[in-house]
Amino acid sequence: MSATTEKPNVIIFGGLNTCSRSLAALLVPLEGERLVSHLRIVDKYSVSPPTTYLGAEFPKILAQPDVEYRQVNLTVPSAVASAFDPPEGQAAYSYVFDLTGEIRYDRTEMIAIKMTFNVSRLVGLEAARRNVQAYVRLQLPVYESSEKSTHDEKEDVKPAKPLDVWWHETVRMLSAIEGLNLVVLRVGFVYGPYIDFGIYTSVITVASVYGYMKKPMKTLWSPGKDPMYTVHSDDVAGGLWACAQWIAPLGRKEADIIAGEQILFHNEKSKVSEVEGMPPCDAKLIAPLFNLVRSAFKQFLDTSNSEFQQVDDSEITLLKGGEIVTAYFGTTFEFHSFMINAYAKANVVEEINEHHVGVWTEMLSSSNPPITQTPLTAYMDTFTLSRHKLAYSNNKIKEVMGYKLKRPEFNHDTIKEIVEKWKAEGSWPNL
Ligand SMILES: *[C@@H]1O[C@H](CO)[C@@H](O)[C@H](O)[C@H]1NC(C)=O
Repeated sequence: MSATTEKPNVIIFGGLNTCSRSLAALLVPLEGERLVSHLRIVDKYSVSPPTTYLGAEFPKILAQPDVEYRQVNLTVPSAVASAFDPPEGQAAYSYVFDLTGEIRYDRTEMIAIKMTFNVSRLVGLEAARRNVQAYVRLQLPVYESSEKSTHDEKEDVKPAKPLDVWWHETVRMLSAIEGLNLVVLRVGFVYGPYIDFGIYTSVITVASVYGYMKKPMKTLWSPGKDPMYTVHSDDVAGGLWACAQWIAPLGRKEADIIAGEQILFHNEKSKVSEVEGMPPCDAKLIAPLFNLVRSAFKQFLDTSNSEFQQVDDSEITLLKGGEIVTAYFGTTFEFHSFMINAYAKANVVEEINEHHVGVWTEMLSSSNPPITQTPLTAYMDTFTLSRHKLAYSNNKIKEVMGYKLKRPEFNHDTIKEIVEKWKAEGSWPNL
């Protein structure tokens, strides 16, 4: 068989706590045809015994032939380099998926640099050294878009929170690596089966508590206005795979010509000399970049009024998403008008959580059978409660790659699929 018809050997770095389990499920499904020949997943966690939530399906994925998990300290250069060595008799890894990056907001900047910027740098440099055909970087929704803009990939979206700067800097750094066949996929807020991180997981859990109490769930932010674009984990996986397939035959130079965008500097200038590997702040850096979210704009922005015009759904604001989720649990979503000015006060977070955290615990213990261990929490932290504004157009990935969303809808069936899978594995109360 020639190299072009053989299925690639693929390696996924990081993301065991975000989307790499979903990607693995696409690449080596329990049923149906595999897309890859051999798959290796590399992350800092142990999988047996697990030191992070894995979900019921992933251990079965790993148990298949030619699928391997490796626990590696990704801050150690030699460990990252040897993770690229294929098993004996196997061809070199030709597609690399970079799902690394620290997702916790309660970390220091030093940790963000070490775990987000440095880890990805080691992986990217080694991938370039080994001439991999595709290097796809997953960029989680660490940005905030402005109200009046195109929302396409040319929009200068700013890192939303202080540590998000390091997620952005990671893309700048990767784009500067000579010979790296990089594609960057920027996604919306992720939801899906066995996804235990992010705002939607939190909203689903808390909405169930308000449904149980038969009380309306309240939002801090004026409903209706803020776009909060989402994407199903099946599409994150599908989009990552589409990116790899797209760049592999093209190579970076051609990919930059077709889909290159300038990656702008959003850091403090003084950091350039402090952090090893940061490109100069005035470097003109280009990388192929694509957005992936569930909805698209008909017209980017109707300038006669400030409402967004959408084509394929009307559920992309916090309000719409919240209404769908709360309705599933038999309650409603309302605006906490008295809270908005009080938000600045530190105790607001505690006050809000007071209403539902105890009830979730009660739901877990009165479940049949009782639930003693779950990755799901009803505690909403400052980050979850803060205001999010993210709108991306997904036209480019549709036009350039012909990508078709696998899961364009967000409805009660979507929530049911997520909740029933949690229930079946014993992470969700059976009441
Ligand atoms: C990973 O390696 C670094 C550098 O040697 C070390 O400081 C750190 O403690 C290691 N982490 C773990 C979890 O072993």
